[in-house]
Amino acid sequence: MQVYGAIHPGSHLSDNFAHLGEGCIIAFPRTALFGEEFISVGAGTMIAPWSTLSAGYGPGVPGDHAVELNIGRRCTIGLRSGLVAHERITIGDDVFFGQDVFVTDSNHGYESLDTPIGRQFGSTSPIEVGDQSWIGHGAVLLAGARVGRHAIVAAGAVVRDEVPDFTIAAGVPARVVSRTDGAG
Ligand SMILES: CC(C)(COP(=O)(O)OP(=O)(O)OC[C@H]1O[C@@H](n2cnc3c(N)ncnc32)[C@H](O)[C@@H]1OP(=O)(O)O)[C@@H](O)C(=O)NCCC(=O)NCCS
Repeated sequence: MQVYGAIHPGSHLSDNFAHLGEGCIIAFPRTALFGEEFISVGAGTMIAPWSTLSAGYGPGVPGDHAVELNIGRRCTIGLRSGLVAHERITIGDDVFFGQDVFVTDSNHGYESLDTPIGRQFGSTSPIEVGDQSWIGHGAVLLAGARVGRHAIVAAGAVVRDEVPDFTIAAGVPARVVSRTDGAG
């Protein structure tokens, strides 16, 4: 099942994607997969089993503006990770995710007191992760998170704004605790 269920260039479902680079693989089983026409996965990238990749608000429901989920080349996305794009998520090249990492560029709305929050659409803000960065186990990247180049997000951190290039951020909310380049 794992062999036949995997998605890679030339496999079943591969034509549905915006782009699948040579040698990339989206392992089986997956938790959820929709909006493939807005999803690009770069060459040599591995997306581990039980992951979620979604672009748009539901199968065939892209929302009221453009949506993109772009994962670069030679990345590893760990087991049970989720990337949920309602606007734009961009992961650079050579990025490594631990397991159980969750990334979403959107929130539910809550302004209508008569409508369940889960049925209200809210604000979105794009997410970026720079080349060569490492996202630790169980980290969460919320709408507007921008992780720079060669940066680290510590295990369990929750990022909602900027983690600059060459820094290490930890905690909830994530704060810079160290650097990867030894400066400062
Ligand atoms: C961030 C990390 C890489 C350590 O980086 P480091 O530069 O060696 O940092 P240090 O251990 O010197 O810690 C610096 C500070 O951050 C804190 N810190 C480190 N990791 C933390 C975490 N995950 N959550 C909260 N605080 C953390 C330390 O307690 C320390 O605080 P202090 O200065 O008040 O004592 C490591 O702790 C980590 O989270 N690794 C992720 C491992 C992982 O997820 N592996 C599986 C995926 S492949």
